[in-house]
Amino acid sequence: MRVITIVGARPQFIKASPVSRALRQQHTEILVHTGQHYDPDMSDVFFDELAIPRPDVNLGVGALSNLEQIAHMILALQPIALQEKPDYLLIYGDTNSTLAGALVGRALGIPVAHVEAGLRSYNRAMPEENNRVLTDHISSLLFCPTDVAQANLAREGITEGVRVVGDVMIDALLQNRARTSDRVLRETGVTAGEYFLATVHRPANTDAAEPLASIFAAFAALDCPVVLPAHPRLRKALERFAIALPANVIIIPPVGYLDMLSLSQAACVILTDSGGLQKEAYALGVPCVTMRTETEWVETVDAGWNRIVGADTGAISVGVAAALAARPAAHPDFYGDGHASERIIAALTGA
Ligand code: UD1
Ligand code: UDP
Repeated sequence: MRVITIVGARPQFIKASPVSRALRQQHTEILVHTGQHYDPDMSDVFFDELAIPRPDVNLGVGALSNLEQIAHMILALQPIALQEKPDYLLIYGDTNSTLAGALVGRALGIPVAHVEAGLRSYNRAMPEENNRVLTDHISSLLFCPTDVAQANLAREGITEGVRVVGDVMIDALLQNRARTSDRVLRETGVTAGEYFLATVHRPANTDAAEPLASIFAAFAALDCPVVLPAHPRLRKALERFAIALPANVIIIPPVGYLDMLSLSQAACVILTDSGGLQKEAYALGVPCVTMRTETEWVETVDAGWNRIVGADTGAISVGVAAALAARPAAHPDFYGDGHASERIIAALTGA
């Protein structure tokens, strides 16, 4: 079997790492990097740390508007897909790289396999929601992390080719957790259990001054250090809106996956608008406060481990206080056993 895998953004490198390893045991993978993320600390570090083979092709699309990114990716992907004639185009998640790959596969009659299918925020203002809905409707194989995702697809009439396989981010986490260390905590000057970990990168929080200022006002009111590995989008927004940095906020460059796992597992609470980090917080048993108005990972909220608070200063403070006050007794295993990748390869080969 020959598979073209398309990745482009940080979370996709992490998701692809266990699947690529499983795939290459018996099959041929042509790895295409769209170049959506390109800084070394947003891209190369993951290939190095996770031993992902170098991409066969990098499309180099870089920083453009959503539509321009998708258009450039489509034009660059078409000749590669025509030349390689793969059995599948394998895509991950909900970024512009995901949708571009799905559209090319569909147009050329190459079956599209979508990993992390069926996720929904039901917020169509998010570019990711459009990307994932459109992608799911033109995919041939849809790999859902959970039963909730499968039910979301069924409500949209998508039942063929759907498999619940578990979550590949759990595969990555379990394969790498033993490699973590406290080095990044020492370098950052924080003590396990006595700091918050935060990430902010969603357009809703970074494209205007008001939500960003409101989030940083909430950070300022916390009584422990807040370690904040800054996505380039946040770094640019902080400069653009001249947000004053509170004394307890420690901004560091984006970190590699292993350092991120180290920082995540030792944090008292994680504050984020990331999708993947909400899930990792849950898997690591760390309470999460989500600075968005909704989440795709609804089971973490239902189980009491995640609170949806938006960008309001007061709501964030209340959420953190509640997260610190008590941890739920139950921690159901929502995201599988760490063997989603093998199930995906078995499904692709028709086993
Ligand atoms: C993208 C995804 C989002 C995902 C996130 C993961 C879309 C629509 N969005 O958002 O779903 O959660 O990746 O991190 O696909 N930049 C750099 N260096 C880089 C990468 C980005 O400076 O290596 C800056 C550029 O100014 C760029 C901006 O960040 O314009 C945003 O990057 P982009 O990939 O368009 O969107 P993300 O916010 O990263
Ligand atoms: N991550 C990382 N370094 C960082 C921030 C995040 O390795 O500085 C990891 C994080 O642990 C998770 C993934 O990147 O595995 C999430 O990516 P991101 O938040 O960029 O995207 P999203 O999941 O929101 O699409």
